[in-house]
Amino acid sequence: MARMTTEASYRKINLEFLNASGDEPFDIFYRTRSYGTIKYVRFATSKPEHHEKVVRLLESGDPLEDFFILEDDLFKYYRHATTTLRKIVANPNISFEKKAKKVYEVSKNIMKEFFENNASEKVLRSSDEVMEIMEECFRDYDIGFYGISKITNKDYYTYTHSVNVGLYCMTYGVKIQMNHDEIRTLGLGGMLHDVGKSKISTNILNKKGLLTPQEFQIIKDHAPLGGEILNEMNCYAHSVIDMANQHHEKFKGGGYPLGIAGNEISYFARICKVMDVYDALTTRRSYKKAMNPFDTLTLMKKQMSDEFDTKILDSFIRYMGPEL
Ligand SMILES: [Fe+2]
Ligand SMILES: [Fe+2]
Repeated sequence: MARMTTEASYRKINLEFLNASGDEPFDIFYRTRSYGTIKYVRFATSKPEHHEKVVRLLESGDPLEDFFILEDDLFKYYRHATTTLRKIVANPNISFEKKAKKVYEVSKNIMKEFFENNASEKVLRSSDEVMEIMEECFRDYDIGFYGISKITNKDYYTYTHSVNVGLYCMTYGVKIQMNHDEIRTLGLGGMLHDVGKSKISTNILNKKGLLTPQEFQIIKDHAPLGGEILNEMNCYAHSVIDMANQHHEKFKGGGYPLGIAGNEISYFARICKVMDVYDALTTRRSYKKAMNPFDTLTLMKKQMSDEFDTKILDSFIRYMGPEL
């Protein structure tokens, strides 16, 4: 049956991430245009019997059409996606590169929904599970920072930046031999460090010219706003909330929001600060080129060293070093 609803209530999905065992079916639509009007037509549900249809379509090669679900079903879709992801990661016949790419894609999509389409915090919670899968996936392959930087997207968007920082934080945890729980927490905090930006107008966030002092103040609010969002969700460790609140504090003081210094800044937030700046500098924006890793680390060490915990920056440089 054809349904007509506003464009905004549908979300594009990747059929590949649906799994037949999902016990939470939802409708899948494709889009048609007739006489200038866009219609969404129901194609299938995710019930096992309908899944056949999806599988057949996937096997027929690249589907020409895009597929959509209703916005309200997004969190169910991501539940299916994480189940599929677990299966992919557990499959010994799939290459690490392919697994890593899929994990990156799902986490990027979750973050994109959250930052660009105002997805609910329920959707954001899927990042929790994705970080768990990510940690499992990367556990057996010590690909290091250099390997990670080959996976990360080099165009800066808040959502890709979030996943990148999560991956760098996770890798740092692996390198310094944290335990699995700490690695996941650190990675998750990295992925969620900028969630407060979801509350800031994109006109200000993406402004190309110089920011007015008022606009800069609004941007600065993203740190405590992020802390608030995560705190209110009542499911995150203190260290994750600290990472959102404190990732713009500087080691020698003078950062924001509080201007605290040294060990007053939580250890996880000090790690996040290094990874945050590194990713911001090594990615492209409309107004700036991406810097290469060597120049970035040189700049961070020589011109910004007051901002970082030297021990963390030095060990990051050491772990990056051999491949530069
Ligand atoms: Fe930030
Ligand atoms: Fe950031």
